[in-house]
Amino acid sequence: MSTSLIERYRAHLPVTDATPIVSIGEGGTPLVELPKLSERLGLEIYAKFEGMNPTGSFKDRGMTLALSKAAEDGAEAVICASTGNTSASAAAYATRAGMRCVVLIPDGKIALGKLAQALAHGARVIAIDGSFDDALRIVRELVDRTPIALVNSLNPFRLEGQKTGAFEVCDVLGDAPDALCIPVGNAGNVSAYFMGFSEYLEAGTSSRMPRLYGFQAAGSAPLVDGHTIEKPETIATAIRIGNPARGQQALDAMNSTGGRVAAVTDEDILAAYALVASTEGVFCEPSSAASIAGVIAARERGDLKEGERVVCVLTGHGLKDPDTAIAESPDMLHLPAEYGPIEKAIIA
Ligand code: F0G
Repeated sequence: MSTSLIERYRAHLPVTDATPIVSIGEGGTPLVELPKLSERLGLEIYAKFEGMNPTGSFKDRGMTLALSKAAEDGAEAVICASTGNTSASAAAYATRAGMRCVVLIPDGKIALGKLAQALAHGARVIAIDGSFDDALRIVRELVDRTPIALVNSLNPFRLEGQKTGAFEVCDVLGDAPDALCIPVGNAGNVSAYFMGFSEYLEAGTSSRMPRLYGFQAAGSAPLVDGHTIEKPETIATAIRIGNPARGQQALDAMNSTGGRVAAVTDEDILAAYALVASTEGVFCEPSSAASIAGVIAARERGDLKEGERVVCVLTGHGLKDPDTAIAESPDMLHLPAEYGPIEKAIIA
């Protein structure tokens, strides 16, 4: 049986013997070397492959803690606004905890796999004619007026759980890396990594704070542009967010480490997405590839020096978004069930 993330890092987490642990075997995701990209950029690059969590994204780290604490409080239902992954994770962990789950999503703007997950786990899925930011505004009002528990990353337990990603990186490498590249949407995860790295540094478990580089999609880059984006747009739907709830916290965190926030274009995101899939054998979703597009841009800009050790967080699995995968890949061949044409197609 796999140990739950909460058990593994219990000493660092706000749980007690009275906390019922809601777990589906999250965490312990692989740190995969990216040799081709490392050689090309003159860096030592690793991917923290968060797509290997039970629902296929990093959200499970936060959700195990959020649902455990909700269960401790006697909650009967949870709610979130989501660009997809949070809804999939909340639906799975709520099911596990025996709670009802309601999710608000921007209609037509979430990847197919994520929608399939939320529905399969029996969540009440409400697609609104608006953005993620609209959905979050309504959800915040709902939790003020009803006894439903909020499981967006505004919930502090989400960040407490997600900070374990930083612990695992340090535990596997033996110390913190020089830099971390990470996609930024609602700005919870980069804030959580900062918490994790800070705690290990204070405890003397690691010796340095990595420079944190966060990447937003150019059409949805409120932290780079310095203002709310009313109509965010990007192919990377998971980070299609114009008013990040933890924006200031994330900016302060990145700046304090000597890192920064930057934007990457959809074109660069898609190129990076295809690159890791086709040259490294690692399949992440488009939003996750913002960290790969980001490491390339950061190296070009001189933010990353020769030989530095860099971790790119690949936040979600490529299987989440089959539509983009198929649209961005070469076509398959359709042939009759006969030897001749098949041999010809292979040898040609
Ligand atoms: N990558 C993926 C795959 C995501 O799903 C998200 C956020 C992010 C990166 C950005 O993380 O919001 O903590 O800065 N997805 C949320 C959701 C918003 O609803 O699934 P963040």
